[in-house]
Amino acid sequence: MTYANELISRLASAHDLEDSELLYLLKTRSDETDAALCSAARAETDKIFGRAVYIRGLIEFTNICKNNCYYCGIRRENGNVGRYRLDKSSILECCRSGYEAGFRTFVLQGGEDPYYTDDVLCGIVSGIKENYPDCAVTLSVGERSYESYKRLFDAGADRYLLRHETADTGHYRRLHPQDMSFENRMDCLQELKRIGYQTGCGFMVGSPYQTDEDIVKDLRFIKSFQPEMVGIGPFIPHSETPFAHMEQGSAEKTVFLLSIIRLLLPMVLLPATTALGTADRDGRINGILHGANVVMPNLSPQNVRALYTLYDNKLYSGAEAAECRAQLDDSLRPYGFYTVAARGDSPMTHPLSSG
Ligand code: 5AD
Repeated sequence: MTYANELISRLASAHDLEDSELLYLLKTRSDETDAALCSAARAETDKIFGRAVYIRGLIEFTNICKNNCYYCGIRRENGNVGRYRLDKSSILECCRSGYEAGFRTFVLQGGEDPYYTDDVLCGIVSGIKENYPDCAVTLSVGERSYESYKRLFDAGADRYLLRHETADTGHYRRLHPQDMSFENRMDCLQELKRIGYQTGCGFMVGSPYQTDEDIVKDLRFIKSFQPEMVGIGPFIPHSETPFAHMEQGSAEKTVFLLSIIRLLLPMVLLPATTALGTADRDGRINGILHGANVVMPNLSPQNVRALYTLYDNKLYSGAEAAECRAQLDDSLRPYGFYTVAARGDSPMTHPLSSG
């Protein structure tokens, strides 16, 4: 047995490795080690989740953002994007069509748009929970105060996604302007968890200046933070950003990391992201084969989908919710996977046996 294979079987049984061993796997990544990791990760996923794939209806409700992240297409200084906001009634309309198609989680994602004060956002969250009490609401609206997170939680929000972006302070600084802070982002994640949200962190694979050592730090952070969800996807340049000419992140490396994350945290909810599907046309299914168990189809209104462009060539279908789920089921069926109409809570906080 090669050293890499020995590491992979230890990762699969102990759900951890030394940093130097993780680094070794990253530096020696090959088709062979990928195949071994992939089968171990999928076996672990099957053991916990079977072949079910959870679906989340993604509602990109505002592309207005006060931040200026160097990598992101909806950064404040991009003047070449038509900006939009959805009001409560259009958001509820997205939920209605999603609910009919079997979606039981709605993810409200947006830029850091000051229009959505706590009062406005709490009104939207409680409106969704009143109309669809059997659904989970996930928020992905960036850095806010502890009080704000608490009010949104009390209004009914169940989960919160806030990618940490990078666990290395120096690397963080190369991705974000001076008015943003690594410490604040990490504090936000701790607060979200303390309040009781099912919390998700994550990072881009192949973001500019990222080293394998940085990725090991990301993996170590993820292992110690014990998030319920982890979102990773390849970095994809956007033409209207300072990183327009930077190299795209690798879809192969992304799926390799999905397998490592699955083995580090067996119960984690792991999406095959839109960025992965954009970087490689088989990215989503390949992600699922590597241990991902969540897909987040877009439920945003047709007329705004093209405007929520974090990166170029973003994959989007013009499909309505029901059609979209049917297409997804068709693409999963040949591999023995199927989507489920369930909230799909984390088994870490909600044991599957209790429903
Ligand atoms: N390529 C890939 N992912 C990106 N994100 C932002 N910009 C890009 C890009 N150019 C990711 C960030 C953010 C999430 C919503 O989208 O990680 O947290």
